[in-house]
Amino acid sequence: MSVPKLIPGNVVAQHNSRESCWIIVHGNVYDVTEFLDEHPGGSKIILKYAGKDATEEYEPIHPPDAITTHLPNEKHLGPVDSSSVIKVVKEVTREEKDRLALFETRPPISECLSLHDFETVARQVMPAKAWAYYSSAADDEITSRENHLAYHRIWFRPRILRNVSVVDYSTAILGHKSTMPIYITATALGKLGHPDGELNLTRAAAKKGVIQMIPTLASCSFDEIVDAAEPGQVQFFQLYVNKDRSKTEKIVRHAEKRGIKGLFITVDAPQLGRREKDMRMSFDDAGAQVQSEEGQSIDRSQGAAKAITSFIDPSLNWDDIKWFQSITRMPIILKGVQTWEDAVLAVESGVQGIVLSNHGGRQLEFARSGVEVLEEVVSALRERNMFPNPRFSIFVDGGVRRASDALKAIAMGATAVGIGRPFLYAYSAYGQAGVSFIFKSKSRPFLIFHDCPGVEKALQILADEFEMNLRLLGARNLSEVVPAVVDTSSLRNHATSVPEDHMYGRNYVSMTGPNFRSLSGRGQKSKL
Ligand code: LAC
Repeated sequence: MSVPKLIPGNVVAQHNSRESCWIIVHGNVYDVTEFLDEHPGGSKIILKYAGKDATEEYEPIHPPDAITTHLPNEKHLGPVDSSSVIKVVKEVTREEKDRLALFETRPPISECLSLHDFETVARQVMPAKAWAYYSSAADDEITSRENHLAYHRIWFRPRILRNVSVVDYSTAILGHKSTMPIYITATALGKLGHPDGELNLTRAAAKKGVIQMIPTLASCSFDEIVDAAEPGQVQFFQLYVNKDRSKTEKIVRHAEKRGIKGLFITVDAPQLGRREKDMRMSFDDAGAQVQSEEGQSIDRSQGAAKAITSFIDPSLNWDDIKWFQSITRMPIILKGVQTWEDAVLAVESGVQGIVLSNHGGRQLEFARSGVEVLEEVVSALRERNMFPNPRFSIFVDGGVRRASDALKAIAMGATAVGIGRPFLYAYSAYGQAGVSFIFKSKSRPFLIFHDCPGVEKALQILADEFEMNLRLLGARNLSEVVPAVVDTSSLRNHATSVPEDHMYGRNYVSMTGPNFRSLSGRGQKSKL
């Protein structure tokens, strides 16, 4: 086999204009001249890297194979001679320096006692863009906060003297064993928080025996995430439906072929909600999405979320469910159901489950929390003899920070709850074991090895909480976590006062107003 000829960096550097634009990604040179106007993230960002290495910018927001699958073969020019590549020197801002310094002095992971603690550390050490994207929610972020607060309106009715020496909090989710009644729900752009992105979740899920839902908009490629799974490890897939159904069909069939055990179709996002924290960051110097229509340009000033979701089909409707049922044998679950009426339609449509979710408060502001909707859904389905039903599962996500939150939803009829952001915070603050987290200081690169990785620790904390809570509730297993275990009489009353949750409140960073300009013309952080 002939060794491919290396392209000298100074040759690449000459192709630095709109007329001839080459870029380097992962050590290979690509001619993207004709692709410039098709790039979903706009041509400006590519031109910034024309003739240079774009890997660092490309990495968090594209699956690794996005460039190879989108560019015709003749535009793959070959490997670069890395010794002569022109490096893009990024200006390290004062804030970035402060962040890196804080990263070095993070508390040892043993100091993290609850899921809140990972968030406390993460919000201080994560890149600002990552924090803005992960933590942002719709409009005034009231629904996002309500998701957590709703759990405060549910109180326990524990039973006593029940011999709880041995408790078992394991369960089955869509027929698959899970060590606890939670799953890692889908969240986009995993590499914004840590270079290993979603793989942090895959590995921890394997170690702790829980199920990971792979997002359509992962930073790692779908196959990379599936390949990282242990033999027999169960994974679900969250689907955003493309306007071009042939793309969606290909993705669904591929997921089934790769052994995915559940297809969670997102139904609450015909248009993305306004995430103003994210928009304020003006995601204008970074990448793109992978499924857009050709020739479509995106306004990148609208934040990361907008820049990656323009392919989503707002015409998705109940008739499409039949089509999905005709192309896959995977169980289909509708993610984002918010009323009992739609829950009834879901049962009637023959899908295998629903997730009562408002998308982490990122979509319709003043959508009710999943756990509040759960009560009306279970009662409407019971009235119609549709619940309980071993062939139809109800899941809830949004706002869960404690095993006690999850147990409230289980008592009310949920099979399991989805947890998203807390795991992103766990790995953004404390990445997976054995993985070097490299960042550069002036003098030397730092390699940090974690002996106890964040997501595993977060899952262990939840497991410990489940065990303790089951004992204190007087329940030996989840089948004893019945409706009588909870008092939900205040759940629908949004004005009920409960003691303030300081841990949660302290982690909430409120939105800021518009930034004033400084006299030098450079942006200045808003004091509003
Ligand atoms: C979000 C999408 C992409 O909420 O799921 O940002």
